[in-house]
Amino acid sequence: MFSREILKSFKFIQTPFYYYDLELLKTTLKALTLELNSDSFKVHYAIKANANNKILNVIKDSGLGIDAVSGNEIKKSLNIGFNRKNIVFAGVGKTDSEINYAINNKISCFNCESVEELEIINNISINLNQISNISLRLNPNIESDTHKKITTGTDKNKFGIDINDLNNILKKLNSLNNLKLSGIHFHLGSQITNYNVFKDLCSIANRTNKKIFEYGVLLNHINVGGGLSIDYLNPQEKIIPNFKKYFNIYKENIKLFKNQKLYFELGRSLVGQCGFLISKVLFTKKSYNRNYIILDAGMSELIRPSLYNSFHKISNITSKEMINKTYDVVGPLCESSDVFIKNLKLPMSKRGDLFCIHSSGAYGETMSSNYNLRNNIKSYYSDSI
Ligand code: LLP
Repeated sequence: MFSREILKSFKFIQTPFYYYDLELLKTTLKALTLELNSDSFKVHYAIKANANNKILNVIKDSGLGIDAVSGNEIKKSLNIGFNRKNIVFAGVGKTDSEINYAINNKISCFNCESVEELEIINNISINLNQISNISLRLNPNIESDTHKKITTGTDKNKFGIDINDLNNILKKLNSLNNLKLSGIHFHLGSQITNYNVFKDLCSIANRTNKKIFEYGVLLNHINVGGGLSIDYLNPQEKIIPNFKKYFNIYKENIKLFKNQKLYFELGRSLVGQCGFLISKVLFTKKSYNRNYIILDAGMSELIRPSLYNSFHKISNITSKEMINKTYDVVGPLCESSDVFIKNLKLPMSKRGDLFCIHSSGAYGETMSSNYNLRNNIKSYYSDSI
């Protein structure tokens, strides 16, 4: 999987660390743009997935915009050089200072999630003597087949505006003179593997678009969020997500009016597979009937397995052992849930072996913490190793 030269370099680097394959990222972005292939489709990268400078620079060069969910994400995107006109600002709880910052920096659009938020953005816009573009984030109450902690578009989730309140919101907007209704926004959830829900989303988006048109507003765009899954089970076999199938669903099912755009907010599918968490075995032990491998990386570097029970492929990348053994692979933190995987068959492993935790490019580094006062870890890149 990694060349001999790369493995050799890994042995001299302080573990744990993130390794990013920038070539793979570029190939993924190329595959995306090839399949996008439509002037009316526009992708905003969900920067929450990975906000690493080098990654952002590659993404910027591929011409994508940014989906930000905090003032700092906007700031970072502007510093990297993303065009302000290609930055949308989402989030269920924007602070006044973030709203001020976004308006002063003339980003393209706010994705709004409540009546109160609309009123506040309107008030701040009046103070700043600006008209702000807004998109209504509507909660369509569609269940997706993903982990319940990363589903967002159902009636049990905090996100968005109840779609049944649309008429009232449209009326309300008549009195909010410093807002311009320029879009509608949806996001069903993340790591969605059954694409049928995207068809359901198209039907709802079409109906809503038409309704708003009949009400007298031609929207500038429809934003269908992100959610395209990656293959955590077999990352090497299906390293590039199925962009073709994903965009075809929208090409076949969405009905745009003339000059309308369809926005996407992809995160995981763009960066998930290009990141690898590399870690060293600190100790091995047998306790009762279980064999443990204790790594020097843990939930502070990659929290997904502890938080969502997520599967990440794990390999011993230095062992030459032919004999396999079943292990629980765990981290070093003082927390019982600091476990990467249980009952994994691996070549016999020993102190000092290097491990790779695959598909760690999305929601790995950005969700890392300093729990147990652990250090931030470094990142290394394929162009400098
Ligand atoms: N748009 C909105 C409004 C979102 O909330 C998200 C992700 C995205 C776009 C990007 O979705 P993606 O294409 O990456 O699925 N920490 C979790 C994932 C949380 C996703 C939050 N929202 C995980 O590690 O699985």
